[in-house]
Amino acid sequence: MADASGLLDAGERLDGPELRALQLARLRATLRHAYTNVPFYRAAFDKAGVGPDDCRSLADLARFPFTTKADLRETYPYGMFAVPRERVRRIHASSGTTGRPTVVGYTDGDLSTWADVVARSIRAAGGRPGDTVHVAYGYGLFTGGLGAHYGAERLGCTVVPASGGMTSRQVRLIQDLRPDVIMVTPSYMLTLLDEFERQGVDPRGTSLRVGIFGAEPWTEAMRREIEERFAIDAVDIYGLSEVMGPGVAQECVETKDGLHVHEDHFYPEVVDPITGEVLPDGERGELVFTSLTKEAMPVIRYRTRDLTRLLPGTARVFRRMEKVTGRSDDLVILRGVNLFPTQIEEIVLRTPGVAPHFQLRLTREGRLDALTVRAEARPDATPEVRDAAARAIAAAVKDGIGVSVTVEIVEPESLERSVGKIRRIVDLRPR
Ligand code: DLL
Repeated sequence: MADASGLLDAGERLDGPELRALQLARLRATLRHAYTNVPFYRAAFDKAGVGPDDCRSLADLARFPFTTKADLRETYPYGMFAVPRERVRRIHASSGTTGRPTVVGYTDGDLSTWADVVARSIRAAGGRPGDTVHVAYGYGLFTGGLGAHYGAERLGCTVVPASGGMTSRQVRLIQDLRPDVIMVTPSYMLTLLDEFERQGVDPRGTSLRVGIFGAEPWTEAMRREIEERFAIDAVDIYGLSEVMGPGVAQECVETKDGLHVHEDHFYPEVVDPITGEVLPDGERGELVFTSLTKEAMPVIRYRTRDLTRLLPGTARVFRRMEKVTGRSDDLVILRGVNLFPTQIEEIVLRTPGVAPHFQLRLTREGRLDALTVRAEARPDATPEVRDAAARAIAAAVKDGIGVSVTVEIVEPESLERSVGKIRRIVDLRPR
């Protein structure tokens, strides 16, 4: 087991009171920076009747207004920037597929902070200087590839910038270059798994020791599946472009008990998604972030729409966030019952005879929404095994979630494979 105790960076070595003092100082400076340099924040603070000096304790942050994705869209492209464009060294964009895109910007200082927090993440995952890191997150406007890349370099690793796609070549590179660490979405890791098997290469026999998986929700069942099939440790990395990119929070390999939020740079709150009221640690709600050190694009109380809860730190001083169960956008409400794709993932992955590939189809029958779970048969599953699997999944959804769904067991390799973030829900309802 990796022992990181001698390797912690300065931020990770703070004690609780030191961390809170640092957060308050950085928070006040950020509020001042946003208010002075971003007309949007000045107007929003003025409207709420608060100013940067009104923040005397961390709890005072609750008096400040939220920022939403819609705010970022309305100020597109550069309206949220707090520095002159010439100081912006890089632009990324959020992966949103609908509506106007949103862009985010980084100064030299921001890029350095980002590399630091990703280096910290890789180390917490069990990566070490001198390791080879295969980065299969997409490069480009998406923050995954370049974010992972610079973090791995900062840690002192050898980086293989594979990006997403060209799956057969990825398998070849993994065999030939012998990476220790892979950074990729969990769904693309499954695509790689298929390709290993297609090429007749034993996925348990690679040089890989650790996988750092994020950019989409994934479950404990998926962790077991990936760890078992590849013989690696699988840990979770979280982030979002509006706040930075990957590296906002990271699970430690020694505990695998949720993700420590890098609270010296990103201040988390959990709020009631309806009322916006701040919830005490331990209660589930929507995650909200305020950046503490960002220069180009500070964000104040950004509503992530990701649902989780905050828990005390274990392997690090930072608080943990529980694995994200889903985004409020991915919530399916079926005849009054709330359902997240991750709940279906848990069920599909424990059902014999089906592969870890599934899709959710939403349709409308008359005035009611209906959900079909399409799960892929394993190649060796007989018709009897497939029928039993369909019945088992339907029964588990009915018993565990409380709603009836149709289950279709489809042919092996018939569902679309992920090359990056997977889309679980196919919404066929008339608009
Ligand atoms: O997905 C950044 C990232 C890249 C994180 C690589 C981790 C690894 P966006 O494209 O802006 O940024 O999407 C952010 O993805 O609000 C969550 O809904 C989801 N997400 C990211 N990481 C996780 C995770 C990147 N570990 C959105 N678990 C976020 C669950 C995640 N959801």
